[in-house]
Amino acid sequence: MSQEHILSIAEFRMFQKLIYDEIGISLAEHKRTLVQSRLRKWLNEFELNSYKELYEKICNDKSSHMLMLLVNAITTNVTSFFREENQWIYLQENIQELFDIPNKRIRIWSAACSSGQEPYSIIIFLKEHLSNFHQWDVKILATDISEDILVKAMKGIYTQRDIENMPKNIILKYFNIFKNSDGVQSFVIKDELKEHIIFRSFNLVTGNFSMFKNKFDLIFCRNVMIYFDRPTQNQLLEQYSKLLKEKSRLFIGHSESIHNKNAKYKLSAPSIYKLS
Ligand SMILES: C[S@@+](CC[C@H](N)C(=O)[O-])C[C@H]1O[C@@H](n2cnc3c(N)ncnc32)[C@H](O)[C@@H]1O
Repeated sequence: MSQEHILSIAEFRMFQKLIYDEIGISLAEHKRTLVQSRLRKWLNEFELNSYKELYEKICNDKSSHMLMLLVNAITTNVTSFFREENQWIYLQENIQELFDIPNKRIRIWSAACSSGQEPYSIIIFLKEHLSNFHQWDVKILATDISEDILVKAMKGIYTQRDIENMPKNIILKYFNIFKNSDGVQSFVIKDELKEHIIFRSFNLVTGNFSMFKNKFDLIFCRNVMIYFDRPTQNQLLEQYSKLLKEKSRLFIGHSESIHNKNAKYKLSAPSIYKLS
């Protein structure tokens, strides 16, 4: 590799700050080679001579397209249907209490929805377990920082591998199944699920939370806070506390936790919190 294609410490610092300021992700020093390997292909693609030139290209791009490429290169979109099994069991066991809502209006936020498996799991869960679902007004706001991944989420097209852990009757009920000329099947979410979900881009670190006019019955913020440092996590938890109703729950990832000094939240079950 030529000398120009090594991410120097000074260049790493520039990206570290940009990524922290724009995405909220705090990259540790040992991530320099990872960042280098994720960004290297852009040097060739945009015919740039150094990572500094790439940095400048990202900063000077008013459309934010380059920033989105950076976000996609740095973050992971790993997700799956009905991830974190205990949370779905909890929802089922507590469905009466959680959805004791006289006006039958449910608002849920899937706050880092990735390619859509999380919001689609929520709506499938409600269709399966909420009695007289058709009488309810259910809307799920599904947001992510990455516009590319949101396009994928909106399409709702999945592979055999993506759906392999779901029961066959659920697959047949909620997916249209297509086979291409090579016999490969794709599984497309039915419109009756899509109509309950609003997909939007939203940055949890720099986004304007005052745009949310109504509170949520549930907020899912799973497997994203882990990238943020403690002050950024606390800032986000503070915003969520203003958007949760009294009986609401906040679902986070299993490898995440809310620091016990945060007096606003108390644990309901592993990785599930309510306001104290
Ligand atoms: C590992 S996925 C988690 C998906 C899903 N919540 C789950 O648990 O399966 C993390 C997602 O967070 C998104 N993300 C990263 N930083 C973000 C930010 N600052 N604001 C909003 N979304 C962000 C990424 O684009 C990615 O799709």
